[in-house]
Amino acid sequence: AAPLRLGIAGLGTVGVGVLRILRRQQALLAARTGREISVSAICARDRRKDRGISLTAHDWEDDPVALARRDDVDVFVELMGGSDGPAKAATEAALDAGKDVVTANKALLAMHGQALAERAENSGRTIRYEAAVAGGIPVIKALTEGLAANEVTRVMGVMNGTCNYILTRMENAGLPYDEVFREADALGYLEADPTLDVGGIDAGHKLAILSAIAFGARPDFDGIEIEGIERVSIDDIRHAADMGYRIKLLGVTQRTGRGLEQRMQPCLVPASSPLGQLEGGTNMVVIEGDAVEQVVLRGPGAGEGPTASAVLGDVCDIARGLRLPTFGQPAASLQDLPRASTGLP
Ligand code: NAP
Ligand code: HSE
Repeated sequence: AAPLRLGIAGLGTVGVGVLRILRRQQALLAARTGREISVSAICARDRRKDRGISLTAHDWEDDPVALARRDDVDVFVELMGGSDGPAKAATEAALDAGKDVVTANKALLAMHGQALAERAENSGRTIRYEAAVAGGIPVIKALTEGLAANEVTRVMGVMNGTCNYILTRMENAGLPYDEVFREADALGYLEADPTLDVGGIDAGHKLAILSAIAFGARPDFDGIEIEGIERVSIDDIRHAADMGYRIKLLGVTQRTGRGLEQRMQPCLVPASSPLGQLEGGTNMVVIEGDAVEQVVLRGPGAGEGPTASAVLGDVCDIARGLRLPTFGQPAASLQDLPRASTGLP
């Protein structure tokens, strides 16, 4: 078969990780997909930046939209980030030009997923985003493929590694929030805009995507009740521990008789439960379905290797000819479910 040719926009943590795996595992990927996977062109903001990896084998483009439209690109790999701006423009350009898209961008999918899904279907292409939710954990594939025969009743989990790191570090080291926040910053854990992490927004983006797949709902980020971890004190954590609980930034989405209930809030979970035992930057997603009962997925939710692993899993699917609808069913069949408030303050 002809090689599958990628155009990669974004050469930060994830983009460089993708290039590294592609080089290390070239033969393995070709054996598994039956095709060579090559990189025609790359794009980032600063051409002169040292990224710790040679880039001379690929054409350079300054403009992600131009990259997305190149004739020698079959799959546009969007690893820049941001819900609007160049990520959205280039993704739209790629779909309109008849390219498949792979992205790690949860903000883009949570805010514009419905329109992008329709665009992909209209042009007969696919948009895959396994890396966007829970990094290296294949939760999107689990929901859209392995659990496709289930009526999902609830999805919940810890979906932001930075918040879980901060909360567990506060508890384990007895340190106040501000001090651990500074530590997380020094370790490079925080997003460029840290409110996305500690304000629960990043995790909310992920929850909106999971809701769409689980319940056939149009992604509704604005319908999520979101509270971050900024106000969790060391006293809160100690009191919870005294009662046998831990505090987690927990996302829950479930379909109730009143509509779709989506919340992302600090919650008490039993310390002895799988969620209660989750340490550091790890993520955990619990899926409940009528036939399977409960599936628990646990693993690294971020970082170069795990995130690039998920991106390339999607690339392999495309190389094998798999073209699933974006949210597991045709975009036109996704419903606007009413918002069911939890009534919590
Ligand atoms: P990053 O390290 O900040 O890298 C972003 C890259 O995009 C940089 O190479 C940057 O170029 C490039 N870029 C930004 N704006 C651009 C523009 N206008 N034109 C061309 N290039 C542009 O980000 P990252 O951590 O790799 O994350 C990438 C995506 O993956 C985001 O959507 C993020 O949410 C998602 N994600 C990340 C992780 C993780 O662990 N890091 C996990 C899951 C999902 P310069 O380098 O030249 O500035
Ligand atoms: N900031 C995110 C986290 C990165 O801490 O989980 C992965 O999406």
